[in-house]
Amino acid sequence: MGGRVEGLVAFISGAARGQGRSHALRLAQEGADIIAIDVCKPIDNVPYPGATLDDLAETVDLVKGMGRRIVTDVVDVRDYDGVKAAVDNGVAELGRLDVVVANAGIGNGGNRLDKIPDAIWQEMIDINLTGVWHTVKAAVPHIVSGGQGGSIVLISSVGGHKAYPHTGHYIAAKHGVIGLMRTFAVELGQHMIRVNSVMPTQVDTPMVMNDVTFRMFAPHRENPGPEDFAPVSQMMHTLPVPWVEPEDVSNAVLFLASPESRYVTGVALPVDAGSMLK
Ligand SMILES: NC(=O)c1ccc[n+]([C@@H]2O[C@H](COP(=O)([O-])OP(=O)(O)OC[C@H]3O[C@@H](n4cnc5c(N)ncnc54)[C@H](O)[C@@H]3O)[C@@H](O)[C@H]2O)c1
Repeated sequence: MGGRVEGLVAFISGAARGQGRSHALRLAQEGADIIAIDVCKPIDNVPYPGATLDDLAETVDLVKGMGRRIVTDVVDVRDYDGVKAAVDNGVAELGRLDVVVANAGIGNGGNRLDKIPDAIWQEMIDINLTGVWHTVKAAVPHIVSGGQGGSIVLISSVGGHKAYPHTGHYIAAKHGVIGLMRTFAVELGQHMIRVNSVMPTQVDTPMVMNDVTFRMFAPHRENPGPEDFAPVSQMMHTLPVPWVEPEDVSNAVLFLASPESRYVTGVALPVDAGSMLK
């Protein structure tokens, strides 16, 4: 029985855990083989635990459990040569490339824009903006040479459209991702390569479900937890939910990756429980 992305190969960054793993599983479930990369270690200024080699191994087991093939590499998206080697190797093993999901990203501290230290700014831009460019740049020659078109999905954020205080470097990077998406879309359209973004609101992953976030959203509590974060987070939404699940974002990624969206390009699709309405 054919799946919605049957026989396609998808290259996904940040696939060890969280949304990246969820995208790998959802695409595999619908018939895609996967090239997965992740840095699999803590990042210098990131205040929550990093993904691990065990996390990536779990993604591999889960994809294989669905009867699909998966090739992985441990690589930092800041290292263009490493990313290129990973995608080259994956395509050599799996035979083609059709889909890219540039998902790897970080949150690394909050401060007013006029107070953010250079190192924090630079780490953010290097990973959340330049890393996305590297991921697409390394993949494009393979999709073009396949001659069958393809779909590229760049994971931005509600913060790619709206501004929030104390996270201006993240906001700037995610707005930049939308600029990359639109430019790649106009440059690659002639090859029937579509380029779109997804803009999630808060997602239930380690990036937000951690003590730093809880303290930021509930500073009045001594030891805040998810139950203190939830009501504040929910106030940002139109629908009465505090956050969305990784699968909700993966379903949007799947639609954009699949031929069902064959004439959709240059779009920034919110998965935001109505955050943009506020
Ligand atoms: N969680 C949210 O609320 C939320 C909301 C909107 C957008 N996003 C975006 O979604 C994407 C996925 O985040 P998540 O929520 O799954 O968080 P996560 O921390 O669970 O997963 C991010 C993954 O990216 C990997 N990664 C980080 N830096 C890397 C690097 N330099 N090179 C290679 N891999 C790297 C991590 O190791 C991790 O496996 C990010 O781009 C994030 O900005 C997240």
